[in-house]
Amino acid sequence: MTGSTRCLVAGNWKMNGVLAEALEFVAQLGENPAPERVEVALMPPFTLLYPLGEKLLAKGVRLGAQNVYYEPKGAFTGSISPLMLRDAGCHYVIIGHSERRDIMGETDEVIRKKLKAAMEAGLEPVLCIGEHLEEREAGRTNEVLKRQLAILDGIDPAAPLTIAYEPVWAIGTGRTATPEQVTETHAFIHEELHRLGHKHRVLYGGSVNPANAEGLLACPGVDGALVGGASLKADSFMEIVRAAARATAQGS
Ligand code: PGA
Repeated sequence: MTGSTRCLVAGNWKMNGVLAEALEFVAQLGENPAPERVEVALMPPFTLLYPLGEKLLAKGVRLGAQNVYYEPKGAFTGSISPLMLRDAGCHYVIIGHSERRDIMGETDEVIRKKLKAAMEAGLEPVLCIGEHLEEREAGRTNEVLKRQLAILDGIDPAAPLTIAYEPVWAIGTGRTATPEQVTETHAFIHEELHRLGHKHRVLYGGSVNPANAEGLLACPGVDGALVGGASLKADSFMEIVRAAARATAQGS
């Protein structure tokens, strides 16, 4: 863990979950054993924000969305604004996930606009960064991360923000970065943030599961986890929350 902020375990449901499944998930959510050290959040699809928000909050889980548009309102068919997410009870919003960069063609410029708009509305962005396999193999990881973080130049360093390092080759593949790779890359990200005058939590994401979570969360510079597949079931998600509680107890 870095600094004094709590570690964050956040579940990104991606395009999964209908109401019946989501209500069952919430009913099965166990207790966070260390709320003073571990914060828990869930990012379900937009359609589940209203029905889940208060139920999650009652269990001490913060609500987040997976995407946002940068305009406050108007003729943007199919888009959701930062104000709408606030209205639905969101604290967090994921911005710049690799699936949006790669499948929906989001550029760093668009991501910067979304980041600013989300912050102005009082949301805390979870800004995802990460390299592709070819980039890692070509020794270009740091260069890619540096370019993705450059959008923070001119952004208020005091505005709440969390970074998530998600190597694209580790997302949904079952292939996680090794503790050495995670430690080295998180150190670079913290250094680069410092150079930009920023200081934020840096989560790790990419095939985090109950078996590998404790080891990953115990790496220096890892301030939490962004969990995709393993967040869809309450028991595996809670196991990761418990792993975070153990990892932060060791580090404190
Ligand atoms: P995964 O997804 O845990 O299923 O690899 C993580 C993410 O994309 O946030």
